[in-house]
Amino acid sequence: MRNISLIFKQFSRTVLLVAGFAAMGFTAHAQADVAKGEAIFKAKCTACHKVDQKLVGPALGPAISSETDDKWLTKWIQNNQALIAAKDPKALKVYNDNNQQGMSVFTELSDGDVANIIAYVRDDYKKLQAAPAAGGANGAAAADNGPSSVMIYALVAVIVIAFIVILVLNRAIGTLEKLLLKKQAEPIEEEAEEEPTATVDRLALAKKLIKNKKLVFFVVVCGTIALGALSWVTMWNTNVHQGYQPEQPIKYSHELHAGVMKINCQYCHSGAYKSKNASIPSLNICMNCHKVVKTESPEIHKIYDALGYDPATQKYDSTKAKPIQWVRIHNLPDFAYFNHSQHTKVAGIQCQVCHGPIQTMKQVYQYSPLTMKWCIQCHKRTEVNYKGSAYYDKMIEVHDRIKNGEKVTEAALGGLECGKCHY
Ligand code: HEC
Ligand code: HEC
Ligand code: HEC
Ligand code: HEC
Ligand code: HEC
Ligand code: HEC
Repeated sequence: MRNISLIFKQFSRTVLLVAGFAAMGFTAHAQADVAKGEAIFKAKCTACHKVDQKLVGPALGPAISSETDDKWLTKWIQNNQALIAAKDPKALKVYNDNNQQGMSVFTELSDGDVANIIAYVRDDYKKLQAAPAAGGANGAAAADNGPSSVMIYALVAVIVIAFIVILVLNRAIGTLEKLLLKKQAEPIEEEAEEEPTATVDRLALAKKLIKNKKLVFFVVVCGTIALGALSWVTMWNTNVHQGYQPEQPIKYSHELHAGVMKINCQYCHSGAYKSKNASIPSLNICMNCHKVVKTESPEIHKIYDALGYDPATQKYDSTKAKPIQWVRIHNLPDFAYFNHSQHTKVAGIQCQVCHGPIQTMKQVYQYSPLTMKWCIQCHKRTEVNYKGSAYYDKMIEVHDRIKNGEKVTEAALGGLECGKCHY
């Protein structure tokens, strides 16, 4: 029994040590906020903002450094459209001062993420002001984000729980020991610091440990919890293909076409604003340029081969055509209905909110998890902007008709729209 107490003491010490290290990691993590903010800023904001200059949106350094109401800033960054819809005076002023261009909505950013971005922008702006010549010097070292905050919280939680369990068990064992000793009418021994000196002692100790039911139980419980947690996480991540980046048959680059050349997404994904599917462009769209651009490139010759086009004679021979098989990246299961126009045209959500910085991708990858949780979270957070939307005007009209007891047909509810019945 006393040995068990000793073991627990040692175990508690180890746990304390681990907790200490974890706490050190935690503070180091807290200091890394700026780096994390920089990473998010680079991924989500640099398409439209620079810290020190106006780009699409205003220079963020002066704007964020002079803004003292961080709560407002957070609201703005997460969902500026909701603020504008709610006629928030400050938001309206920013919106009107910038010719009502409109900024994307970032409902996926947590308050912590936004705080990191704000910290980064302020920090970077301070540095830029201090050393205006060293402009781009602080661009590096953003890649290492450290462990995710969920992992750290989980680790801390596990350590705390383990610690409490140890304390409770230790108490219980102490009491039991005393009871037992009293029963045997033995004097209560002082806990001598007897270290097991020989291997024989260790062996005996190990045997005792295995025989000790409580300890075995404790270990089994811990093991079960760990295994359970592992399988839980594994199961949740099954069929989630975030980051999926397959090799495509032609080395087509969005960075070049959509980023550098600034070809509008709609030029190729013509369905994105008017139908369910954004659609992948047919190679004829590529030919609008590539009939004359880069005609010598082997990658472009793949387009020619696919269309049965002969660049020498400039003639198409459809018998030689063999369509390109693009590898599909985003793919919801058939039982889930997702409609692009509902989100891009009606809700006004920018492609990048869901697909990430496509215009910087040499090779497209799946940026969002596309899980049900992802859809639901955005639906819970995003305020619908119903002002000036023909759809909602119609809804309000229908509501009024119902109120007045008038006849309402399915046609009035939009039942004649092609997309309601057709994929
Ligand atoms: C698609 C372009 C776009 C993206 C991406 C974008 N912004 Fe903006 N942002 C704008 C525009 C445009 C404005 C000016 C207001 C308006 O027209 O609605 C603005 C305004 C702002 C303002 C208010 C500035 C002021 O004068 O008070 C802040 C703060 C801001 N953006 C932060 C961010 C952050 C942080 C990100 C990244 C998470 C981001 N923006 C991403 C376009 C964008
Ligand atoms: C010049 C034509 C062109 C332009 C412009 C273009 N794309 Fe694409 N896009 C393609 C082609 C071709 C593919 C299929 C090959 C691939 O995945 O790279 C594709 C694939 C994609 C995919 C992945 C589709 C899948 O399989 O799940 C997304 C998402 C996407 N584009 C979004 C965008 C966005 C957002 C923009 C605007 C910033 C844009 N594209 C601009 C041609 C274009
Ligand atoms: C608006 C014109 C335009 C359209 C449309 C267009 N491209 Fe391009 N593309 C270019 C230009 C210009 C370049 C060459 C840039 C350079 O000089 O390196 C290029 C380069 C490329 C390259 C790199 C060739 C190499 O060897 O460097 C590939 C591959 C390519 N395009 C594929 C496509 C595909 C596939 C499509 C259709 C989905 C497409 N492009 C649509 C203008 C276009
Ligand atoms: C609200 C989130 C969201 C927005 C905004 C969004 N997409 Fe998508 N996109 C998706 C989802 C989800 C899929 C997968 C659809 C499926 O598998 O049925 C997808 C698939 C695609 C595909 C693959 C082909 C297809 O049609 O399924 C392309 C290309 C694409 N999106 C381009 C775009 C472009 C371009 C824009 C901006 C005009 C855009 N998306 C805006 C969520 C979004
Ligand atoms: C970035 C935020 C965002 C994400 C992510 C998102 N949605 Fe939406 N969704 C909206 C908004 C906003 C509307 C309301 C549009 C409107 O009518 O004004 C909407 C509307 C819808 C509607 C129409 C609901 C109705 O009452 O008619 C469907 C269906 C839908 N979304 C499905 C999905 C699915 C499926 C996914 C995930 C694959 C998804 N959405 C992801 C923002 C989002
Ligand atoms: C109320 C539901 C509904 C609406 C709304 C609707 N359709 Fe249809 N549509 C159907 C059904 C069901 C069929 C299949 C009929 C059949 O096979 O005999 C069909 C068949 C078709 C066909 C023939 C397809 C074929 O293979 O023969 C076309 C084309 C079509 N619809 C186009 C449209 C267009 C365009 C719109 C929008 C203006 C639209 N539909 C709106 C239900 C609808």
